[in-house]
Amino acid sequence: MHQYPVSRLRRYRRKGVREMLTSFEIRPSRLIYPIFVDESLERREEIKSMPGQYRHTIGELPALCTRAGKLGIGAILLFGIPRTKDAAGTGAYSDNGVVQRAIRMIRKKSTIPIVADLCLCEYTSSGHCGLLKNGEVDNDSTLDIYGRIAVSQAGAGADWIAPSGMMDGQVGHIRRALDEAGFQDTSILSYAAKSASSFYGPFREAAGSSPSSGDRKSHQLNYASRFEQMLEIESDIAEGADVILVKPALPNLDIISRAKERFGVPVAAYNVSGEYSMLRASAMNGWTNYRDTVEETLVSIFRAGADIVVTYHALEAAEWISGK
Ligand code: PBG
Repeated sequence: MHQYPVSRLRRYRRKGVREMLTSFEIRPSRLIYPIFVDESLERREEIKSMPGQYRHTIGELPALCTRAGKLGIGAILLFGIPRTKDAAGTGAYSDNGVVQRAIRMIRKKSTIPIVADLCLCEYTSSGHCGLLKNGEVDNDSTLDIYGRIAVSQAGAGADWIAPSGMMDGQVGHIRRALDEAGFQDTSILSYAAKSASSFYGPFREAAGSSPSSGDRKSHQLNYASRFEQMLEIESDIAEGADVILVKPALPNLDIISRAKERFGVPVAAYNVSGEYSMLRASAMNGWTNYRDTVEETLVSIFRAGADIVVTYHALEAAEWISGK
């Protein structure tokens, strides 16, 4: 079996053979493009730690989403940066909140599916993902707020709600809140296995969402464990998640594979800010070729088993593919 010289594996790599045997390719419809929308801006501002990515004004979103739609991008994922923050993060569920206004604005012009990130860290003065009780993020009181946020985002027109706060029971709570409010058709993309990762650094600069004290280790997963990812995914599916998400992508390719093999639901992976910025920075220094490293990265995440990839490279990758 497969022994040289009868077998010569290099024959698989000959021109024409290699192309025919390529199993994975990047399809724009399988990409989700994250967008930051900042209520206080007059015009877009480049994010220093993420060259090529911007904090946008609400008014810029229709054109951006129309472009993403034309490129065949599967969906956009919205992160809001409110003008003011408070202890309870009330801006997250206000009808006039930044994300709610952004969704309504996009909906007037574009049919692209909208995913709304659901977390409190951009809205609380503490920068924490939930309400604090004795200095700790309190699980159950936070769930009530999450339910309200979900209903207000769905009411504004979000097609998907993506809870990223990692509270126990958040998916079930949000599913019930949506159903009771008549949003049975709104889907849930749950950040199920999200580890406490240093690769979120650029995002926190972009969204101004660093915790003012402490860290997120009381709710985000320990990347050095191997059992809790599957437990988290299993419970999110039981609570009603339509698609589960693993994050960050590259440090978790094994988790993506296991989730894909073990569960029947679609698996998404989040190629996060730090992963984006590494490829950018390296290319800007002339150390690696940007397009080549992006393509290799995205294909490897799909090969690991992801059905969908959330990535800041989405627009560029779709442009390369379509030649537009
Ligand atoms: C909000 C949230 C974060 C990211 C997505 N949703 C930041 C965090 O958990 O601190 C990170 C995404 C990225 O790094 O691109 N909780």
